[in-house]
Amino acid sequence: MSFITSAAFAEKGYVVLDSYDQAADPKEWLDLEFVDWKSSGVTRFAPLASAFGEMECNGFWNHTPPRTDKDGVWVQANVDVAPILKARAEEPGANIGRCRVIELQPNDYTNAIYNLHQDDNNRLNPEGTGWIVRGFFNLSDDPSSVLILREDRFNPDTEVRIPLPAGAQVIVDTQRFWHAVWQVGPEPRYCLITSWESGPELDAYIEKYHGASNNVNPPLDPQVIEDAQAEVRRRLAERSATLASQGKKLADPVDPEA
Ligand SMILES: [Fe+2]
Repeated sequence: MSFITSAAFAEKGYVVLDSYDQAADPKEWLDLEFVDWKSSGVTRFAPLASAFGEMECNGFWNHTPPRTDKDGVWVQANVDVAPILKARAEEPGANIGRCRVIELQPNDYTNAIYNLHQDDNNRLNPEGTGWIVRGFFNLSDDPSSVLILREDRFNPDTEVRIPLPAGAQVIVDTQRFWHAVWQVGPEPRYCLITSWESGPELDAYIEKYHGASNNVNPPLDPQVIEDAQAEVRRRLAERSATLASQGKKLADPVDPEA
């Protein structure tokens, strides 16, 4: 027994879809209600679908009864002001778990690398059902910002950097990749993030919008990467030492949002 997965993710673990004409839509995300929810970087979130339709962002496994990241319930106050965002999440016809808009304040490459984490979308997900992957639809126009993916957290040679202009649409196996966003700014980034269940519906959606895994990284000075590697190692060693002095151990970061 294993999970139902998409062949489109088998090799690279992500797909970039055709760009969406974001400029044609109203900026619904500016009217949403955001809640404080600490994640990778300085963030807030506006839930569109949550575990029970409440205005909150917690993982479905942290509720009673705990459950996996499926069957999200629409948050009425927010979907009332964002019908287009809701329709975009629903378009694939795949089961939806958490669905929310993230607001991420500008950061830098080093902080993004420090914030790399894997999601835990498939906690409690029963084998034989669809693997949960996540859609990232960039709403604000951040052409010099990138979604960073690394197969190996500490190996920059595994790094994928996907540019985030308005309308960028990416689906990622976020449990496979270490990921975070480098938001150049000066404005915050807004992005619709949706958990979808893999299956024939999602496969058809990826095919319809020509999902491709042939991203070419925008250039980045190797010195910037090297400096970030060193600084992240220094910070992690420092945190580890602080925790050790308290008799605790540094755990891998899991499932803040990106
Ligand atoms: Fe994440």
